[in-house]
Amino acid sequence: MRQIALTATPAFHALRTHYAEAKDWQMRELFAADPARFSRFSIEAAGLLFDYSKNKITDATMRLLVALARERGVEQRRNAMFAGEKINATEHRAVLHTALRAPATGTLVVDGQNVSQEVHAVLQRMRAFSDRVRSGQWLGSTDKPITDIVNIGIGGSDLGPEMACRALRPYVHPRLRMHFVSNADGHDLDAVLHRVNADTVLFVVASKTFTTRETMMNAQSARSWFLRGKKEADLPKHFVAISTNTAAVREFGIDTDNMFPFWDWVGGRYSIWSAIGLPVALATGFDRFSEFLAGAYAMDRHFLDAPLEKNMPVIMALIGVWNRNFFGSTSRSIAPYHQDMNRLATYLQQLEMESNGKRVAIDGTPLDVATCPIIWGNVGTNGQHAYFQLLHQGSDITPVDFIASLEPDHDFPGHHAVLLANCFAQAEAFMKGKTADEVRTEMRAQNTPQAEIEALLPHRTFPGNRPSNMIVMDALTPATLGALIALYEHKVFVQGVLWGINSFDQWGVEFGKVLAKSIESELIGVPDPQAHDSSTNALIARARDALRG
Ligand code: F6P
Repeated sequence: MRQIALTATPAFHALRTHYAEAKDWQMRELFAADPARFSRFSIEAAGLLFDYSKNKITDATMRLLVALARERGVEQRRNAMFAGEKINATEHRAVLHTALRAPATGTLVVDGQNVSQEVHAVLQRMRAFSDRVRSGQWLGSTDKPITDIVNIGIGGSDLGPEMACRALRPYVHPRLRMHFVSNADGHDLDAVLHRVNADTVLFVVASKTFTTRETMMNAQSARSWFLRGKKEADLPKHFVAISTNTAAVREFGIDTDNMFPFWDWVGGRYSIWSAIGLPVALATGFDRFSEFLAGAYAMDRHFLDAPLEKNMPVIMALIGVWNRNFFGSTSRSIAPYHQDMNRLATYLQQLEMESNGKRVAIDGTPLDVATCPIIWGNVGTNGQHAYFQLLHQGSDITPVDFIASLEPDHDFPGHHAVLLANCFAQAEAFMKGKTADEVRTEMRAQNTPQAEIEALLPHRTFPGNRPSNMIVMDALTPATLGALIALYEHKVFVQGVLWGINSFDQWGVEFGKVLAKSIESELIGVPDPQAHDSSTNALIARARDALRG
């Protein structure tokens, strides 16, 4: 069924007219004119404060944006997702990561299966297993407790658990070291295997499909490494699997008693809440993992219950569309001011770009609006000393999501005040900039000669008026992390609905999975010098020589 293009909706037209006026607004002036701007443009829910006041918006802008959300049917689509309707139309699948964090009391039937019951049955198995590993009851082949857990997976089967295990570092069991191997590059596995001992290692092979080339190759190589000093009979104590594909797990040689299942209605990049989160439960304990799920559930409730005008994921999505489709921003930078969130930007890259990196609408028609911006970033304050120059004075305007936690989890005096001061100061500077008059006054106070002042003026002036969001939590805990990730998931969902795309398929990546196959066979088998362009043919020839060694 054809759907109306975003640009054809009355709300979009109204926003275009509004933009003609909004494009010249100065945020400095908007703040000066309204002392209540922060309270007007901030929302608190699920342990998070979302301050979106440093964007070029007024009440009128927000009314028009919310009207757009209503016109695009955000509420209906949201309800359809939560109800288990097959909204992933190109793969004929439901999208039910929200069911993974809902309490056991609910009932949700999809294709005749009580999803809720199945979810909680697996969670109970995860609890039992993680308790045994953490308490030291689960013993390796020489009766020693596990000390190192190696997750082998890629994409959604790697990024979520790694990001969360890092973010929750203070909660990790002191005996357990967590490792993550994802790359087809053997150096990744090699580096980890040098740090672990076959007597005390537990490999978690994580793959929704259990066919992904990188993961299968790493798992096979890990298995061969293990069997150098061990017997086949030792494998069950050191290898477990997480997958939707029982047959492939069995074929690989992992006992299906040691397999934690999930379901095709869980997208790879939304799978951290499923058995894919097992490394998080192993590292931090099942109770902490439950708190992580509960934090996400709190955000789900907010997303379902709050009116659109005060709905954090909806407002965040609308602000994103305002910046992307009207102000023309092409990327968004993620700036968590917390070292333990140093994998968040990478995690969000997959969540956002694999979901909304699309060029046709759900009905197949080409879109006439830009979709997902490029997502990138790093922790503050490190980013400040790398690329913030461009954010302040570069020719592109890049909106930033600042993320801060008020309470540190260390007791080094002074650090946290410096960290937060930097975070808030950068956001303020992006908004306010520094005018030529302010620069003159500052330089005169330093007795700089007038000629020097005038020469340096253009370089030391900051345009400001650059948008950012600020997300603040009291502390980075399993619950606030869960809420934060769910916030981004729902933001991505709402933007997908606004743009009219399917956020839940990834045909481009599936294409990538087959691309290398023919070249791989030429590198190790018979080359075909006519098969490719001259550049690719020459590169293959070079690599063949090197591989033959
Ligand atoms: O990168 C493509 C993708 O399909 C992701 O969506 C997924 O998270 C990743 O591959 C890994 O897939 P699997 O869990 O099946 O190994």
